Amino acid sequence: MENEKIIVTSALPYANGPIHLGHLSGAYLPADIFVRYKRLTKSDIIYVCGSDEHGVPITITADKEKLTPQDIINRYHESNKAAFAKFGMSFDIYSRTSIPTHHQTAQDFFMSYNNQGILTEKKTLQFYDEKAGMFLPDRYVEGTCPKCGYEEARSDECEKCGDLYDPSELINPKSKISGGTPELKETSHWYFPLGKYQERLEKYINEANEKFNWKDNVLNYCKGWFKDGLKDRAVTRDLDWGVKVPLENADAKVLYVWFEAVLGYISATKELFKEKNNPEGWKEYWQNEKTRYIAFIGKDNIVFHTIIFPAMLMAWNDTNDEKFVLPENVPANEFLNFEGKKFSKSRGWGIDVEQFLEIFPADSLRYTLAANLPENKDTDFYWKEFQAKSNSELADILGNFINRTFIFASKHFDEKVPERGELETIDKEMLALISEAPKKIGNLIEKYKIRDAVFEMMSLARAGNKYFNDSEPWVSVKNDKTRTATTVNICLKTIYTLAEVFSPVIPFSSEKIFKMLNVKSADWNEIGKTEFEVGHQLNKSEILFTKIEDKTIDAEILKWSNPATVEEKEEEKFPEITFEDFMKVDLKVAEIIAAENVKRSKKLLKLQVKIGKTERQVVAGIAQSYKPESLVGKKVVMVANLKPAILFGLESQGMILAIEDENGKLNVVEVNNSLNSGLKVR
Ligand code: 2FM
Ligand code: ZN
Repeated sequence: MENEKIIVTSALPYANGPIHLGHLSGAYLPADIFVRYKRLTKSDIIYVCGSDEHGVPITITADKEKLTPQDIINRYHESNKAAFAKFGMSFDIYSRTSIPTHHQTAQDFFMSYNNQGILTEKKTLQFYDEKAGMFLPDRYVEGTCPKCGYEEARSDECEKCGDLYDPSELINPKSKISGGTPELKETSHWYFPLGKYQERLEKYINEANEKFNWKDNVLNYCKGWFKDGLKDRAVTRDLDWGVKVPLENADAKVLYVWFEAVLGYISATKELFKEKNNPEGWKEYWQNEKTRYIAFIGKDNIVFHTIIFPAMLMAWNDTNDEKFVLPENVPANEFLNFEGKKFSKSRGWGIDVEQFLEIFPADSLRYTLAANLPENKDTDFYWKEFQAKSNSELADILGNFINRTFIFASKHFDEKVPERGELETIDKEMLALISEAPKKIGNLIEKYKIRDAVFEMMSLARAGNKYFNDSEPWVSVKNDKTRTATTVNICLKTIYTLAEVFSPVIPFSSEKIFKMLNVKSADWNEIGKTEFEVGHQLNKSEILFTKIEDKTIDAEILKWSNPATVEEKEEEKFPEITFEDFMKVDLKVAEIIAAENVKRSKKLLKLQVKIGKTERQVVAGIAQSYKPESLVGKKVVMVANLKPAILFGLESQGMILAIEDENGKLNVVEVNNSLNSGLKVR
């Protein structure tokens, strides 16, 4: 039988910021575990991903940093690719949507739809920002709702009262890009008739669900969309960054980023096969009705992968000879939060992968995230849980079991696999567990129940440890060497199975274990049955998991303990104080004469300030609101008699006053520059 062909994709992350742990838990780690497992069952699988490099936010980041969009995507494409590699993501290709193959593919789809009369061109009025020189996407226009008066309503929709209106009715519109007042200007766009596909989409999802058991969270999202009724969607935008609309009268237009990003999976596969010198090879996967296609994503991407992309493929398949496969499943995850709050790029909340892996090993992160995936509901990353799980499971159960066994094998059996003697019940039970585990774990992974699979993996290690304890080889070795040999033989076989079944989750450690055992990873379906040859030579053991110390974790907790945002903060209540109390605070005008970043801290700046004739060092938590150089020369207000404190090993001799705005941005309290430093504030 030919091996089953599978395409797995993970959402293409925007090349507009670093990958954080939330991304990993949503769309990347579960897919990688699935793919690694499938490779071990000898499926013919390709795993495709890459950077999503278009869209308005990238152009805005570029403007802010006075760089080009190309600079931004180059930066993040490279750093995200490297971070993924360090995390052990085993993509067959990590491509990008700025490449010519992708532009061509997306334009081919657009032209095919257009030539077949699937798209319609419609004229609309849209806000134009004269200052920024661009049409504004909905989310960059804000104004007052014509119905309820809500002041932060969007261009055509009020979040507060739910009203939908014509953009011309929005009162006092403001551009969120330039702050100016945008004008309505006529433009035209091409629309994809999503509504026409609703019935077929519902049928497709029902059937796929019946066969492949879709997740409830995904089905519920889809139901919501169908209930509201699908509408035509504009697939073009007035923008100069993106895939150009390949028509003569559409110079300043690009394809809507979501319309082309999903096609990025196909263009990335084309790239992959080009690299393999088989440029047509991609068709054997995408245009083969027997291929299974599974799209891993986070919950914010559901509609694009269960509705828009399938509808696009249906439309293509209706009108072309080569037919594409549709996803058989879209096992979207919910979100991972960080220490109880949503990851937020703008608020600087949440550690990114690169930072994390500078301090901790990839496998510890992979294991702890995998055991806590937001498969059915949002979950949280907590430093303490990360430490506890790494130490009490990876180190104390798995690592300890392997270590004990290797010590025994080397001390008493000359680093060789000893021959088993007669089996007792306890041995038979352990052998039964070993032979059942791979199938049980595999079945769970097939159902995208990765958390449960991880639990079963660790249960096998736990059982191995218990078997070792209950067999008491340290007792039998004194009077019954055959008994000890049986125990050690079965423990080694358990370790072989553990290395295999754990390998999708902790590939770096599994590799070490295989090396220690002096074997290669085997076929998943054979592993529980595979025997060592008697006398098989083992290698020296290595340290697999080092315990994470309290002080390392405490340093992280401290680093991330500060920024409560205003919206989440309760009204603070202060006790009444007397005038004398207030007068105890020595407030002075200080001049900032030097400022620099504090190494390894995102939040802190080291400042030198002058107060009259004296100079002091102050460590201030304002790094996310100010570039160091922008502070030099400012005259600010400081608390001059605050007890000195040590922050990140640096002494801070005072505190600068700052106002925290609604977005958590800090604004130092500045005074008129003509006032001399050292003056008293009262
Ligand atoms: O949410 C995101 O990061 C999107 N860039 C995902 C795109 S997935 C697919 F369409 F490419
Ligand atoms: Zn309203």
